[in-house]
Amino acid sequence: MKVGFSWLILAASIFLVLPVSADSLSARQQELEHLLKHDCGSCHGMTLQGGLGSSLLPGDLKERSDDALFQAIKQGLPGLAMPPWGPLLSDSDIHWLVERLRKGSM
Ligand code: HEC
Repeated sequence: MKVGFSWLILAASIFLVLPVSADSLSARQQELEHLLKHDCGSCHGMTLQGGLGSSLLPGDLKERSDDALFQAIKQGLPGLAMPPWGPLLSDSDIHWLVERLRKGSM
């Protein structure tokens, strides 16, 4: 009885805390945020200002269409070191990343 009750409290507090700490991002969006920083960041720089890969900051992408960015992420850029992410990410993941890049400030 006692054990059951504390589980209930635990479950309730996780439920209350999650939406706040998640900062209104879904679990998948948090994974994508992590991917952007660590995987994309390994080439494009931790703050996406550019490294081996070009800068992905909003100001540097404004000449590029959403579709061009989408295709670059999905198919990769043959001849450049940008790998295709299509096998790992869904189309909606990639759309989210493109919108995320437009917003900037990692
Ligand atoms: C292995 C290194 C590497 C990784 C990892 C990588 N990229 Fe790239 N990326 C590149 C290179 C190199 C280019 C081409 C840069 C150039 O045009 O000179 C590029 C280009 C791009 C472009 C096109 C930019 C433009 O101006 O058209 C986008 C968008 C992009 N990457 C997004 C991503 C995203 C999102 C991820 C993570 C899911 C990622 N990249 C991971 C190396 C990488």
